[in-house]
Amino acid sequence: MEDRVFIFDTTLRDGEQSPGCSMNIEEKLRLARQLQMLRVDVIEAGFPIASVGDFEAVKMVAEKIEGCTIAGLARAVKPDIDRAWEAIREAAKPRIHTFIATSDLHLKYKLKKSREQVLQDAVWAVQYSKSLCNEVEFSCEDASRSDINYLCEVIEAVIKAGATIINLPDTVGYAIPDEYGAMFRTVSEKVPNIKSVILSSHCHNDLGLAVANSIAAVQNGARQAECTLNGIGERAGNASLEEIVMAIKTRHEKLGLTTNINTEEIYKSSKLLSSLTGMMVQRNKAIVGANAFAHEAGIHQDGILKSPITYEIMTPQSVGIKHSTLVLGKHSGRHALKQRYAELGYQLSDEELQNAYKLFCQIADQKKEIFDEDLETILESGLSSTEEIYHLVNLQITSGTNLRPTATVELKQGEQITIDSAAGDGPVDAAYKAVERITGVVGKLTEYSIKSVHSGHDAIGEVFVRVDFDGTLMNGRAASTDIIAGSVHAYIEALNRAIASKKRKDGQQKKVMPKDSITV
Ligand code: KIV
Ligand code: ZN
Repeated sequence: MEDRVFIFDTTLRDGEQSPGCSMNIEEKLRLARQLQMLRVDVIEAGFPIASVGDFEAVKMVAEKIEGCTIAGLARAVKPDIDRAWEAIREAAKPRIHTFIATSDLHLKYKLKKSREQVLQDAVWAVQYSKSLCNEVEFSCEDASRSDINYLCEVIEAVIKAGATIINLPDTVGYAIPDEYGAMFRTVSEKVPNIKSVILSSHCHNDLGLAVANSIAAVQNGARQAECTLNGIGERAGNASLEEIVMAIKTRHEKLGLTTNINTEEIYKSSKLLSSLTGMMVQRNKAIVGANAFAHEAGIHQDGILKSPITYEIMTPQSVGIKHSTLVLGKHSGRHALKQRYAELGYQLSDEELQNAYKLFCQIADQKKEIFDEDLETILESGLSSTEEIYHLVNLQITSGTNLRPTATVELKQGEQITIDSAAGDGPVDAAYKAVERITGVVGKLTEYSIKSVHSGHDAIGEVFVRVDFDGTLMNGRAASTDIIAGSVHAYIEALNRAIASKKRKDGQQKKVMPKDSITV
């Protein structure tokens, strides 16, 4: 049996549809480019029928990303399949991914259909998809709670209808590893035509078993694992890509399996996703958490110094984390900065270095040491390609325990500088109101988070905001040692994006698309 496990990344579909993880079209494309660098085999770019935004994003990814298969999700109905095909047809390697639930529970309460009807729908959907696209994946939603004989019957029929990949999701994260593994074993033994397709796992993490279940699946014949970066996804999330991949790599002798993933791109991919969505991983998250390769206990440090394999089962370098003792501070020049970025795996153009260096100097003025994590944050902020329509020139805050917070904000737009003040519930609220008074653009803050990038009272605060500008959601990010200034910079970034996007849209001919918004 082929020992290669194909990695199917659904960060942009199952991941992105979960609360707090949405991305705009440019952000999705940026992440897709990173997934390509990571060398995932399949990118599930979205659910095209769900919304116009989803459709456009899948289409854009299909047109721009080469080297990976691009999948679009569709329920087992014609409008979904047509829409998915329209979105992915320009991809070099397109795949229609169609699904219907097979558990009696879903049939009775959700679909209100008999087993016979669902079987017919499944076969029809695969046949129709196959008439459009050579590669067709069929998912038996809620497979792990389906009757195994009925499951085998559906699988046999959809393979005859032309399916090339069969996915058996643990949709509600209910299975435990030996059960989930046994389902793959039984299907492999009982379905006569199973050898002509690739079996796939798709696990949710409701019981914290998504990765363990995925490993059980590949130990029992699955050769595609569906997963997301940082394990984002519906409810408790999906199986985490980095954990599956590193388990397969680190335990190669036990599992005898490989993937094509460029593991040195894992950390960068994880960081990019966090910075795009504002959804940070916990410090102790396996593989990509800040503590994953940190050793504090004396005995551990002693062991690591004698030989890293005493306490490290994989090297930080193998997932793209490069530790260094080189400390950068305010006396460091551009050259040192460029060198350090190169060591961290970033090749900066002159313009990118210039932007990063400007921010680096501002922060180095206020902070003794600049750590690798600070550098990555600087890079994220410094390389932001948002058109700068409004620029913050000055900010003055008055606040205190017995004072109503007020903010005076000075903004530059082109050559024009405007100053205004406002009072608010807090200094950030006051500053945002002053920005609103100057720009005349009203934004409703829907998400706001601050994360300290390093420890200590002079740490950089990374601010993430999501703002609703008249129904259009925009993200903004900024890094500063002053969290109020950072909050204003982040808000202005979101505002600039909203204005730029409106300008772009006004200049485009609008297409008429269905408005329905559906989540799976
Ligand atoms: O969890 C699930 O069952 C899914 C399918 C649509 C593949 O996401
Ligand atoms: Zn799912």
